[in-house]
Amino acid sequence: MAAVFEALDLYLDRQIEAVPGYFGQVEAIAIDAVGRWQVEQGIKGNLAEIGVHHGKLFFILALLRQAGERALAIDLFEDDGLNTGIHAGRDRAFFDNRTKLGIALDESEVWKVDSTTITPEAMRERIGMLRMISVDGGHDYRTVSSDLRLADAVLADDGVTVIHDFFGIGWPDVSVAAIHVLTEARERLQPFLITPYKLFVARPAAAARYRAMLPGNPRLGKAALAERTMFDAPITVMTLGRREVLKRSLRRKLGLLPKRL
Ligand SMILES: C[S@@+](CC[C@H](N)C(=O)[O-])C[C@H]1O[C@@H](n2cnc3c(N)ncnc32)[C@H](O)[C@@H]1O
Repeated sequence: MAAVFEALDLYLDRQIEAVPGYFGQVEAIAIDAVGRWQVEQGIKGNLAEIGVHHGKLFFILALLRQAGERALAIDLFEDDGLNTGIHAGRDRAFFDNRTKLGIALDESEVWKVDSTTITPEAMRERIGMLRMISVDGGHDYRTVSSDLRLADAVLADDGVTVIHDFFGIGWPDVSVAAIHVLTEARERLQPFLITPYKLFVARPAAAARYRAMLPGNPRLGKAALAERTMFDAPITVMTLGRREVLKRSLRRKLGLLPKRL
């Protein structure tokens, strides 16, 4: 039976803009395309995010769940007062948004914890092996390297780790930590896709298959793809064309994007 993504379509088309978060349209399109392609290919596993904030990305993962799959939201869920304006209220915004969006989550799918204290064994016990994990928690060297090693320990053979802010000029230690972990795990982890805010990584055999599916993926029709190298291996760089970016800013100016849930 074909997978049904009605709630995900609704979220991506009409609701996501109302959830404050730290990535753009191109990342949403890429995560959606990779996640749905996994389902079409029969790739099974759970989905998790370290660093959930108000849930903008996590809700995509939750809505990608298929029968028998679970999601896991890991965060401190504490308002540290540094996130002001639309980003305030980390202690409650995720829970409020989940209710407003009507996304059902089991109690075991939300974990209020410092990610650096989670062992691979505890993670496996809680969620099992993952087909997708987004790493976007603390942005300091120690936390990023700890989170990436944890992600490596629970990544399924066909799974994807999405690393946030690898190219962000505001977060140099994210890049340094990621380069160190990716170098030490060279045999197991290979980047295959770059978007402005994120780096997508998979096991080497799977990375080749993910790269191969990108150009023909109908969900990426509006994106521009370029071939480059990273760690001396081929990688795809994905951006959104100028026309798409302008269309979105026009919709915002005309007040056509949702302002709040
Ligand atoms: C950049 S925000 C995440 C943005 C989110 N992924 C999105 O899609 O909008 C970083 C999050 O990491 C969380 N965080 C920071 N350090 C953490 C830690 N040690 N353990 C768990 N969560 C942590 C913060 O509470 C914050 O919600």
